[in-house]
Amino acid sequence: MIVDLAIIGGTGLYDFPGLHKVDKQVVATPYGAASDAIVVGELAGKRVAFLARHASGHSIAPHRINYRANIWTLHHLGARQVLGINAVGGIRADMGPQALVLPDQIIDYTHGRIASFCDADDAKVEHVDFTEPYSADLRRRVLASARQAGMVVVDGGCYGATQGPRLETRAEIARMRRDGCDLVGMTGMPEAVLARELKLEYACLAVVANWAAGCPEGAAAPEISLPEIFAHLDAATARIPALIAALLA
Ligand code: HPA
Repeated sequence: MIVDLAIIGGTGLYDFPGLHKVDKQVVATPYGAASDAIVVGELAGKRVAFLARHASGHSIAPHRINYRANIWTLHHLGARQVLGINAVGGIRADMGPQALVLPDQIIDYTHGRIASFCDADDAKVEHVDFTEPYSADLRRRVLASARQAGMVVVDGGCYGATQGPRLETRAEIARMRRDGCDLVGMTGMPEAVLARELKLEYACLAVVANWAAGCPEGAAAPEISLPEIFAHLDAATARIPALIAALLA
């Protein structure tokens, strides 16, 4: 089967509007079960696979997601290009709530997650190049599609991946800012590196749900409220189908 694009939906995106003629695929993997059935269907005349990272109903916390089963399943179904959509907190001044950002770097602060397919006693050990963690080609095409759709997507930024599920402290975000992080999220890793190990073209479209703890810098930082997070996510996520339609055109 050829899948033109796989989309992994994050918080606030549990199915993909406009995907039709759908078929739900559940695949047995060597790593256990993926987060949910993969919904394969047509969008803008192309074959698209969609996976809800947290499962429909948001029942799987970031640190409990079976990232290996998710990525392995999409690869197995024939996907070679994967766009991960990830809710994040904004750290950099131009990355406030409802911004869409295409990061170009990652700092990984997660722990205890299985972050490689080279994890069995008999597995061949590979040290994949991760200098540029995202596919330059997929990033370029997403940015061009955004321009074509008349949409603002911030080009570049460093995604700091935290363990969650709690949000960060003010001091943690201050440290992440000093480290060079522009965004903070809980699901960007190990998804990106597992995609690299399977030679998938992978990019992350980050959807800013809230200011990260203590941000914006210098302002009276608002308390982070869940209803507000979901309202921002709904507003920002509503712009994504037009972007994907332009990407597939
Ligand atoms: N921190 C970490 N992950 C997130 C946040 C945040 O502030 N907002 C949405 N996902």
